[in-house]
Amino acid sequence: MENEDFSTNPFHLLISFPSTNIETRKKWKKNQKGSFKILAFLLFLASTIQPVLGHLWDGVVVTQSDFQSLRAIKNELIDSKGFLRSWNDSGLGACSGGWVGIKCLKGEVVAIQLPWKSLGGRISEKIGQLQSLRKLSLHDNFLVGSIPFSLGFLPNLRGVYLFNNKLSGSIPLSIANCPMLQSFDVSNNSLVGKIPSSLANSTRIFRINLSYNSLSGSIPSLFTMSQTLTILSLSHNKIVGSIPSEIGKLSRLRILDLSNNAINGSFPLSFSNLSSLVSLNLENNQIENHVPNTLENLHNLSVFNLKNNKFDGKIPSTIGNLSSISQIDLSQNKFVGEIPDSFTKLANLSSFNVSYNNLSGPVPSLLSKKFNASSFFGNIDLCGYISSKPCPSTPPPHNHPLQESPSPNQHHRKLSTKDIILIVAGVLLLILLLLCCFLLCCLIRKRAASSRNSSKAAKAAANARNVEKGVTSGDVVSGGEAGGKLVHFDGPFVFTADDLLCATAEIMGKSAYGTAYKATLEDGNQVAVKRLREKTTKGHKEFEAEVASLGKIRHPNLLALRAYYLGPKGEKLLVFDYMSRGSLASFLHARGPEIVIEWPTRMKIAIGITNGLSCLHNQENIVHGNLTSSNILLNEQTIPHITDFGLSRLMTTSANTNIIATAGSLGYNAPELSKTKKPTSKTDVYSLGVILLELLTGKPPGEPTNGMDLPQWVASIVKEEWTNEVFDLELMRDAPSIGDELLNTLKLALHCVDPSPAARPDVKQVLQQLEEIKPELVEGDNNDNDDDDDGAKVQINE
Ligand SMILES: *[C@@H]1O[C@H](CO)[C@@H](O)[C@H](O)[C@H]1NC(C)=O
Ligand SMILES: *[C@@H]1O[C@H](CO)[C@@H](O)[C@H](O)[C@H]1NC(C)=O
Ligand SMILES: *[C@@H]1O[C@H](CO)[C@@H](O)[C@H](O)[C@H]1NC(C)=O
Ligand SMILES: *[C@@H]1O[C@H](CO)[C@@H](O)[C@H](O)[C@H]1NC(C)=O
Repeated sequence: MENEDFSTNPFHLLISFPSTNIETRKKWKKNQKGSFKILAFLLFLASTIQPVLGHLWDGVVVTQSDFQSLRAIKNELIDSKGFLRSWNDSGLGACSGGWVGIKCLKGEVVAIQLPWKSLGGRISEKIGQLQSLRKLSLHDNFLVGSIPFSLGFLPNLRGVYLFNNKLSGSIPLSIANCPMLQSFDVSNNSLVGKIPSSLANSTRIFRINLSYNSLSGSIPSLFTMSQTLTILSLSHNKIVGSIPSEIGKLSRLRILDLSNNAINGSFPLSFSNLSSLVSLNLENNQIENHVPNTLENLHNLSVFNLKNNKFDGKIPSTIGNLSSISQIDLSQNKFVGEIPDSFTKLANLSSFNVSYNNLSGPVPSLLSKKFNASSFFGNIDLCGYISSKPCPSTPPPHNHPLQESPSPNQHHRKLSTKDIILIVAGVLLLILLLLCCFLLCCLIRKRAASSRNSSKAAKAAANARNVEKGVTSGDVVSGGEAGGKLVHFDGPFVFTADDLLCATAEIMGKSAYGTAYKATLEDGNQVAVKRLREKTTKGHKEFEAEVASLGKIRHPNLLALRAYYLGPKGEKLLVFDYMSRGSLASFLHARGPEIVIEWPTRMKIAIGITNGLSCLHNQENIVHGNLTSSNILLNEQTIPHITDFGLSRLMTTSANTNIIATAGSLGYNAPELSKTKKPTSKTDVYSLGVILLELLTGKPPGEPTNGMDLPQWVASIVKEEWTNEVFDLELMRDAPSIGDELLNTLKLALHCVDPSPAARPDVKQVLQQLEEIKPELVEGDNNDNDDDDDGAKVQINE
């Protein structure tokens, strides 16, 4: 159980993800140039990661042809830091892991990965000899010259990552010959010329990033034929012309960044078909005319940036129906009219800017409360936001222009007979005209009836297809090498099975369910990958059904499952969000002596965990069964995320029994589990209670004190009326102000670890009580909650 066999089905490839943040990359590059320290750090990192990966070699020595090619490639590179010193012998070591950055399969090179190696020089055209090459990753170096034309000779090429270099020339047209191409990122170089329209020819292409170059010409309309393109970034180039009117055909497009170019024309109507779109950035272009009011299908749109263009007309009110929207920037255009009232429905809106337009009327009050003047500035007739002129206190009851501004001489005027005749004639003419129009309309309608019926049918069919797409639980992206299968759930990342199959990773830890890795992506982003122990999981069909339901669970305190992969040999990988601050266990117990964790932080964590568990019990109907502080992960903001929930559903019964035994040894298991062997919501509450005690005492429950487990020890001290002794010393410094909160939380925790399951509260009650104790709400007078629990016999002395 304990030793995982790494030699079979190794998870040894590199996951790569779309980069959306060139700015960080640019900074990164700057730092790299300027500072030796960072380089040293990277060197250190490389040396620590290497042994973890292990070198998994199939034993086949590199072919002569590939060896020659690698030698030629080295010859044309300038290796000022000596990273390629290992590329030295007769080639025996090239595939066995001796040559840095080279991965082989059956003696043929499948990946070259040498990012951040300070490499200068050029990429040799001899690279075209590496017929099995799938992945070329040389980003963040100082490479010059052009992108080799011979890349187009590589039938297996999937990923090209050459960003952050000094490459010049144009993008070779030959790239159209790579039928497997999936990801092409050459951003932040000095490339010129037009974008080859065949770049999106591959039926698998999902990501194209050409940003930060000097590319010219227009956006190839052939791009719109791609069924797979998910991310397209062309920002910071010199692209002209209009956006292809058929862009709406890109049904998978999630991120479109055309910002900082010289694009003109209008906003294509077909945008309204991009139902997968998450982020649209058209900032700093010269796009004009109205934005069509037909955007209601963009359900997933979160970022909508039209800043600094020449848009006019009204702001489309349908934007107010896009509930996912979080950022809207329409500033520096020529929008007129009012800010639509529908915008007040946008609950997730966190950033909003309509400054420097020609808007008028009142700002909807919700928006004026949420955003300050800098969001509304520069609109002469806009009113009702902070530091603007107030709106007219009572808007005129009728908008009839005659009533609003009666002309002073009005009553002096009399109508002459001439006037009357003219008016009557005018009215008659108008009626005649209207009649004509009516007749004409009838005629046209009859004629159009038949053709409209057929087009309606087509539309309905299209809608049906869209609905189908929306309903499928996951997207199967790619087959991978030999029948592997990758399924995505919703989330910020897109990647393919082949990316997974080319991954390097660092072990984070092992749990009862398998090994967890931190996978660092090409662009520095990270995800967590859990490789399940193979022999302990259920069969494929059952497994897939269970994992599909886990992939739907979304809660701020539950770690989101983003994808799973089923390998051809039975390996099973789960892909999760990466939590940068590690587990609660290490946060509490493995910190430096100078690091203090304040009470509010601990309380926030306690409430978060309880919230997550409450969602599991009450909404998802899942018993966790293995809740420990190692299974609570913290993100950058120390928001806790429960992990490993529901995994027992993926495991065989015998595996689950084993897991209970492991958890038992750590001190989180309710006493009755040793007999029943069946976790329940009450055993979960017991584990929660132990975690609360852990937060209060700062002691890991795995280490018995005086032969007692943590709950017993705490209870014994409380019984002896030494209550204050149980608390973590550093909490006692603030005892005068937080004493009541500590004591009430302690009481609650002891209630949770009551030996009798029936006496324990359910998680909803725990949550309620924690929220009552929560610092901000406490006013000092704590009358103890109605009935004292008889189980734990807490006596409180202050
Ligand atoms: C090749 O390089 C490796 C790693 O730097 C080194 O251990 C080995 O001795 C070198 N072999 C030769 C023949 O120089
Ligand atoms: C703003 O709109 C008003 C009325 O729609 C128009 O008269 C005025 O010229 C516009 N101002 C600018 C700067 O476009
Ligand atoms: C207005 O809000 C933005 C962020 O929404 C902030 O950066 C800016 O400093 C604020 N300006 C003022 C004057 O408060
Ligand atoms: C809004 O946009 C204007 C100009 O585009 C900018 O000066 C201002 O800082 C922005 N305000 C916010 C809150 O982003």
